[in-house]
Parts: sequence; C-alpha cells; structure tokens
Amino acid sequence: MMALDMTREYAFEMATSAIRFGSGATREVGADLVDLGLRNILLFTDPNLTKLSPVVTALESLEANGIHYTLYDRVEVEPSDRSMNEAIRFASSQEYDAIVAVGGGSTIDTAKVANLYACYPADFLDYVNQPIGKGKPVPGPVKPLIAIPTTAGTGSETTGVAVFDYKPLHAKTGIAHRRLKPALGIVDPENTRSLPSQVAAASGLDVLCHAIESFTAIPFTERPLPERPILRPSYQGSNPISDLWSLEALRLTAKYIRRAVADPSDDEARTSMILASSYAGIGFGNAGVHLPHGMSYPVAGLVKTFRAPGYEAVDHPMVPHGISVILNAPAVFRFTASASPERHLKAAQTLGADIEHAHPDDAGRILADELIRLMQDLRMPNGLSALGYGSSDIPALVEGTLPQHRVTKLSPRPAGADELARLFEDAMTSW
Ligand SMILES: NC(=O)c1ccc[n+]([C@@H]2O[C@H](COP(=O)([O-])OP(=O)(O)OC[C@H]3O[C@@H](n4cnc5c(N)ncnc54)[C@H](O)[C@@H]3O)[C@@H](O)[C@H]2O)c1
Repeated sequence: MMALDMTREYAFEMATSAIRFGSGATREVGADLVDLGLRNILLFTDPNLTKLSPVVTALESLEANGIHYTLYDRVEVEPSDRSMNEAIRFASSQEYDAIVAVGGGSTIDTAKVANLYACYPADFLDYVNQPIGKGKPVPGPVKPLIAIPTTAGTGSETTGVAVFDYKPLHAKTGIAHRRLKPALGIVDPENTRSLPSQVAAASGLDVLCHAIESFTAIPFTERPLPERPILRPSYQGSNPISDLWSLEALRLTAKYIRRAVADPSDDEARTSMILASSYAGIGFGNAGVHLPHGMSYPVAGLVKTFRAPGYEAVDHPMVPHGISVILNAPAVFRFTASASPERHLKAAQTLGADIEHAHPDDAGRILADELIRLMQDLRMPNGLSALGYGSSDIPALVEGTLPQHRVTKLSPRPAGADELARLFEDAMTSW
C-alpha cells in the first residue's frame, strides 16, 4: 500500500445551501415558511430595493400566506462593522423564527451576521476571521435564513461567508462558518431584471473572479492536514468537485456577461448570469478565492473619493466589490501563472483565447489580456489609479492585504509584502 503523508491534507468536503432555481420562484417563499412552521419573520433588504419588485413580490407572498413580518430595510450597501452592529441590535431586539434576506451580497451577508449574534450574543470580534478577530466557531445552529439574491454576483446564497468593511483597519474582513449557510437560496432570474447595467457589470465580474480564483487556488492537497475533521476550513483549495462548478460558471459568464450588461431584458443572458453566480458560489465556497479578493479588501476599505456610476443610491464614496477585485486580477494572474500554467491557460481558453500554440510561459499574459478586453468592453476603470490610488498608497494597501491570510494563503504562488507591493504597482494601470 502507498505510504500516506500524514502532515498533508488528503480529503475535501463539499457543502452548500439547498438551492431552488426558477423564474418567479420568489412567490413561493411564503408557502415555504408555512411548511417549515415558521410564522414570525424578519425581512432584510437595503433602502434602494425596498420599493422594487423583488421585495414587493416577497412581501406579497408572506402576506398571502399569513406570515407575520417585520421589515428591516437599513442594510448598508457594502456593509461595515457599524452597519452590522446596527442590524445586530435590531435582530437582537426582536422575537423571530427565521430571516428572509432579499437583496445582493450586502443584504444577505448582513442578515447572516445579525442572525448569528442575535442567536449567540458575543463581542463583535469573537466570530470575526483571525487575525483581525478571534475566529471562534459558531457555537450551534442559527435560526433559518432564506436568501433571495437580486444580483448575479456574490453567490452568498450558497455560502457560509459574510463580508464587511472593518472601519478601524480600513479593510474588509468577514465571518466564515458552515453554520452561517442559508437554509435555502431562492435563485429567481426575475429578480435581476431591474439591476442597473453598471451593477450587473461589477457583480458579474465578481462571478468571473470567483470562478478563476477558485480554479487556480492551490490544490487542497497542499494544505496541512487538520487535527480533526471539523477544523477543515470551508476554503480548502482547488479540488475536483469545485473545479466542475467553477469552470461551468466561467463558461456561462464568458458567454453571457456582455449581453446581460447591455440589455436587462435579454432573458437568456440574465438567467444564465444568475445561474453562473450560484455555480461560482458553490465552487469558491468550497475551494476559496485568493489574491485578487485578498487585495480587494484594502482597495475598498481605503476608498478616497471614488463613486461608481450605477450606484447612485449610495451617498458616500465607495468602490463596488466586483470593481475592487477585477482591477487586481490581470496583475495577479500574470504573477501566479507560473505555478499552474495549464489552469491559467484553461481559464483563458474558456474566456475565448486561442491557446492551441500557446507556450506555458505566456499563460499569465494570455489570461490577463482576455480579462483586460472584457474590462474595456464593460467600461471598468483603467486600474487602481483611476480610483485615485498612487504609488504612495502602496504601503497601506499591502498592510491591509497581509492580514487576509484566509484567502491569500490559497494563492498558488506565495506573495509576501514585497510581491504584494509589486502587484499593486502593476495593478495601477490595466491598459
Ligand atoms: N458572502 C460572500 O460569499 C460574498 C462574496 C462576494 C462578495 N460579498 C460581498 O457582497 C457585497 C456586494 O454585493 P453585490 O455585489 O451583490 O451588491 P450589493 O448588495 O452591494 O448591491 C449593489 C447595489 O445594487 C442595488 N441592487 C441590487 N439588486 C438590485 C436589483 N435587482 N435592482 C436594482 N438595484 C439593485 C443595491 O440596492 C445596491 O445599491 C460586498 O459587501 C461584498 O464584499 C460577499
């Protein structure tokens, strides 16, 4: 028998929420709650969505089924520790059986965090990822959360991850635990019909990066073996099952993102993008993401004056998550490709590159060029300098990335402070 190296990981595990997919499925949420015996609901959304069709449809379904609900529509777009604490105070002051979250990643993540602390009160940093927080595990089951996404982006309906901006450090961090996974994700393509095209572009590029980063993350076998199975992280590194979801998400995104952004009435494109978003969520929710996401957290957290078109409902400078990620991506993949040229070439090919005669040494450039073409077509800012960053900001950007171990250690090529500084310099201008 082959000798096993008992210091290295040998197994991986797949976990995801139950997902129901279908046009119009939002109308079923009231009946779901009745069938689960859950009669007293908190409905979370953001102030912009509260009057729009996804929320109106969900509320009609609750009313038609005799569900008592209390509306919380003060979710902050790109939530912070401040807005999370406000939502925690609200949920903790209510008697409720379950939460329904109707919105993008900001809403679903806020609902996850509010539910956690309402169920298991603790100091705010207790459950927050190390080294910023204490990384304590969620002590037991939380109350059921039904997540109804309205963006084709984060895949938060499939994952046990919640992300927020931690203001004291000017960088995003989060809470990650399998018990935070929604009990059910209702993925309804009707809900993205009203998405402004620039939000569709930014959130769609988040899907793209989830797919490529999870596919190019270190193989799960390169992580150390955990002492107990329960200590196996959700973000395990690339693995054969995540690969299937991530590659299919990338294929769908490559085929449909331009159409979905150009025309919200293109049903085939819109439907395919929200499907791709959940596929990528299942892929990256188990494999993880790496440097483009790790570097995006300070890019968002240190925002200066940037305001993105399409996000007019937000009344302060803000870098939308998908933009903060994609601007790092070309520089990162030029850097990481040498660790797994065949995977980087496969991603480039899925995006449309002809790789028949490609040399492995060119894999990073070929993938980066495909991404830049897409960024130009979707009118992304031309690099971090277009957000107002310059070389003098690099030390702070590096400092904000270094604590993001949970994702940066999944990079197929290790990146310390010097490498990160060079990557940020390279990401200042994309083309
Ligand atoms: N939990 C995870 O696994 C995960 C993964 C990636 C990103 N995130 C986080 O999710 C957040 C970003 O979420 P997002 O990109 O889904 O967007 P969002 O929730 O921040 O929403 C962006 C904007 O679009 C508007 N909007 C959303 N749906 C709409 C619709 N159907 N019609 C009209 N307007 C609509 C919102 O009101 C808001 O103004 C960030 O905080 C990011 O860090 C979480």
